[in-house]
Amino acid sequence: MTSRIGVVTGGGDCPGLNAVIRAVAKAAQRRGWEAVGIIGGYEGLLAPQQTKLLTAECLAGLLVRGGTILGTANQGKFSAKVGHGESRRLPVELLDETKRGCQELGLVGLVSIGGDGSLSIAQQLYEHGIPVVGVPKTIDNDLAATLMTFGFDSAVACATDAIDRLHSTAESHRRVMVLEVMGRYAGWIAIYAGLAGGADVILIPEIPFNYDSVCAKVAEREQSGRHFTIVVVAEGARLAGADFVTSTDQPQNREARLGGIGARVAEEIQKRTGKETRSVVLGHLQRGGSPTNMDRALCTIFGAKAVELIAEQKFGQMVAFTGSQITGVPLAEATGQLRTVPLGGGFITAARSMGICLGD
Ligand code: F6P
Repeated sequence: MTSRIGVVTGGGDCPGLNAVIRAVAKAAQRRGWEAVGIIGGYEGLLAPQQTKLLTAECLAGLLVRGGTILGTANQGKFSAKVGHGESRRLPVELLDETKRGCQELGLVGLVSIGGDGSLSIAQQLYEHGIPVVGVPKTIDNDLAATLMTFGFDSAVACATDAIDRLHSTAESHRRVMVLEVMGRYAGWIAIYAGLAGGADVILIPEIPFNYDSVCAKVAEREQSGRHFTIVVVAEGARLAGADFVTSTDQPQNREARLGGIGARVAEEIQKRTGKETRSVVLGHLQRGGSPTNMDRALCTIFGAKAVELIAEQKFGQMVAFTGSQITGVPLAEATGQLRTVPLGGGFITAARSMGICLGD
């Protein structure tokens, strides 16, 4: 009898989801297994199940295609994240129903592709007896137990390109240009893109900032004949002593929506320095489009490894990149704690050596 595995995508979309789906299905087919995609996130496992058989034909062109052909959700019955990083336990009836769904589909394994929220659900499913393995997805790169999540490199490429483009306007108009990037409570996108794009100021959630420091940098550049400044602000950056800036239409019972800090920083810089200042929010552009070469390779390696973990019956594990190898780590280690930019690490040290202002 042919073995059948399922693959499900959860949480926010990001470049590379389709590349992982492709890799999982191809690696499964090579073993003589059948791969089915679960439509619309975990809810597709509930009766009447929504699935799509992943045949060789429907995998064509997926390596480079953005989004997810299976659809995804970060709200509804399976939303685990409620408010400032807190997770909730799913009701036992829902877990029972999901398990029944997997049994009815005849799944010998389920590959859950997701970030912190979706993988904390995967852990609960595993504890409930569902044979699940995880693949780490998020542009935020904030999952513990892996040095890199897929989607991150593509988001950094997008943010770096934006910084490059802002440079010309900043220089031509002698302005301060502020770019707000995503990343939630971690400053990975801001610090990588800021370094790659040659930003003068990088504000990240890990280092609460003050305006004296930021404006001193603008003044220092003015005095040295550099009449423009590029500021990169992570959406989770905050003024020392203040709370995170969130968007006005806060969803109920969901993770807080961050956003708006870039405009505030721009307004204050203009007020204090008198220099014309503009802000840009990069937003969901960072999650769209084709994955970078690095992400395509990472997704392919992650997908193949996920199938290997199923073959070895190593359920309850997540594929992880440790720097020297791709391995399986317990899902429990990867969820429930964020991996933020280490204050004593190479990124911060390099930024300070370059004279980049980090706002402190
Ligand atoms: O976790 C990925 C992410 O893009 C964050 O960087 C951002 O804060 C959030 O999702 C936005 O979520 P939504 O698309 O639901 O507004």
